[in-house]
Amino acid sequence: MIDIHCHIAPGLDDGSQDLATSLVMAERAAADGIRVIIATPHTNGVFPTPERLALEVGNLNREISSRRLSVVIVPGFEIPHSLALDLAATHTLAGSGYLLIEFPHAYLPAGAVRLITDLVNRGYQPIIAHPERNGDVLAAPGRLVELVEAGAQIQLTAASVTGDFGPDCQRCAHYLLTRGLTHYIATDSHSPSFRTPVLRKARTLVEKLLGPEQAALLTDGNPLKIVGDLAAPAE
Ligand SMILES: [Fe+2]
Repeated sequence: MIDIHCHIAPGLDDGSQDLATSLVMAERAAADGIRVIIATPHTNGVFPTPERLALEVGNLNREISSRRLSVVIVPGFEIPHSLALDLAATHTLAGSGYLLIEFPHAYLPAGAVRLITDLVNRGYQPIIAHPERNGDVLAAPGRLVELVEAGAQIQLTAASVTGDFGPDCQRCAHYLLTRGLTHYIATDSHSPSFRTPVLRKARTLVEKLLGPEQAALLTDGNPLKIVGDLAAPAE
């Protein structure tokens, strides 16, 4: 499996605070069957820079391979919607044209559809991070339809799918899954114990809900289009 949203890079945001914690996260992810993790720190447009992230990811991968863990970390970012147009060129996922965009937690901003349209017109593929935890979407999940029609893809958090975020988020996540409004399930993990870096439990649940093919698409097939050759098994 491939995790496209994870705060595993140490010391850059509210995720892992040090290398030792990041290595525990990598260990748990590898044991769960995750082979690629996109490290997606929050950015305020100034910090962390792509160069700093590349440095942390390089260090982390060196430690991971010295421990012979079968997982690789690649760089990406979680971008606030207000900075998406400014940062698009330099803050993609794994050097692709995909962008992971975070809307406010309480509401969907008025310009959300326009933003998605603008990004698509500029050649990017916007992914909306965890909308099932957004207040407006929880109240009316159908509001995502116009964003998907404008070209957005949707990433659900594994803990929402499994119910670990409570019944409201789970109900919303299952609504989006069963209506074909989901493209990825990712961990959004911040530590070994808070939103844990695992996908298997959510994938198993989606297998029962939608069948094994769809579960594989959301945790492997679609993410593979982002990371491409980077996901090739190590020699
Ligand atoms: Fe996140």
